[in-house]
Amino acid sequence: MEKKRIDLNVFPPFLEALPVIKRIEENDFEAFFVGGSVRDVLLNSTINDIDIATSAFPYEIKDIFPHTIDVGIEHGTVMVLFEESTYEVTTFRTEGDYKDFRRPDEVTFVRSLKEDLKRRDFTINALALNKKGEIFDYFNGIKDIEEKKIRAVGNPKERFYEDALRMMRAVRFVSKLDFDLDSETFLAIQEHNFLLQKISVERIQIEFIKLMLGNARNKGLAYFIESELYRYCPSLENGQRALEKIEGIPTRFSSSEEMWAVLGYFMEFNHKQLEKFLRQWKCSKKEIKESKALLAAVYCRKTAIPSAYYMYTFGLERVKTIESYVELFDFPDSSTELDQLWDQLPIKTREDIAITGTDLIQASERKPGKWIADALDDIERAIVEQRLSNQREEILAWFKEEATN
Ligand code: CTP
Repeated sequence: MEKKRIDLNVFPPFLEALPVIKRIEENDFEAFFVGGSVRDVLLNSTINDIDIATSAFPYEIKDIFPHTIDVGIEHGTVMVLFEESTYEVTTFRTEGDYKDFRRPDEVTFVRSLKEDLKRRDFTINALALNKKGEIFDYFNGIKDIEEKKIRAVGNPKERFYEDALRMMRAVRFVSKLDFDLDSETFLAIQEHNFLLQKISVERIQIEFIKLMLGNARNKGLAYFIESELYRYCPSLENGQRALEKIEGIPTRFSSSEEMWAVLGYFMEFNHKQLEKFLRQWKCSKKEIKESKALLAAVYCRKTAIPSAYYMYTFGLERVKTIESYVELFDFPDSSTELDQLWDQLPIKTREDIAITGTDLIQASERKPGKWIADALDDIERAIVEQRLSNQREEILAWFKEEATN
């Protein structure tokens, strides 16, 4: 195997982690940088997590380093704390049967790097780098990086039976890297898409969001649709049309909430349906709330140009997000200066109103009740629309007059 070599001195994250590799080697074991970091170096991308693979068994790593945390020791992973940084150090392993298509029934630790790389998902992720900067590329990962191909290591069907999430990872790497799927890998996804049913929603959600937020989203999405993976994602079995509509727009989503709102719009969801859908996707409460707010803004904007009250209700940031869809969705045209409209709002939040509910109770001598919220809503809207000035006395006079009408 011919080895490509890189100069580790140029990559500070590797340089910082080098003493960990050296320390393991001084103890007569092998150690390599593996996985995403090696791929990212060859792609000239930012290196994120540094993962180390080693021939040392977990207890041997714990003997070598004084500070470690057992993060997944049954799978061979020990976290090493070294000079302010942490590194996941994982013993070379092959994995036994995956009867449930998720986690191996057993992990067998091995002493060979090649055996370890053989059970990784894609050739571009099955690269290892030693302390001299030499790259170990048993499965032509470098060629696939050059040719921009996502190809399973060995037999794709076996890789997907080992972990069905890899099918989602394949399309998200397409989206992230603007690569293509190798045809054999694609066919295997098409044939085994149903295995995704075995995977937890939480894991699918992470990959789906990465797919939807990637640089080459529409390419990834095309594979996602054509392979029919979507049929095995939460509540997306009837989502083909909506996904195709997203595939037809050039906009790059800047957040998962924006993505969910646009998907919800194309699925023709109302806010309740969107909430149910996002619960099925196990989204956080915060994410659900924001996605619903964005969808509500989309529906408002669909029928009217931005008004002061619309700006006030949704806030400048959301309004600007929605504005980027106006042309694409054929919403009413507007030349409104959003920043100006925002700056001119007499109040920006309910807290800015010059009176409170207590003031209303005192002024009306009525018992507290739902009427307070209704009155505050009316006052708030009147102030925002500049029918009423935000002065305590004027508000109370207005309120009294409204109450008697
Ligand atoms: N891996 C795998 N099968 C999986 C997940 C991970 O074979 N289902 C292997 C790959 O070699 C991968 C490495 O474990 O490169 C690390 O996985 P992870 O950190 O999840 O992903 P990265 O490839 O590092 O990609 P990213 O950082 O973009 O998530």
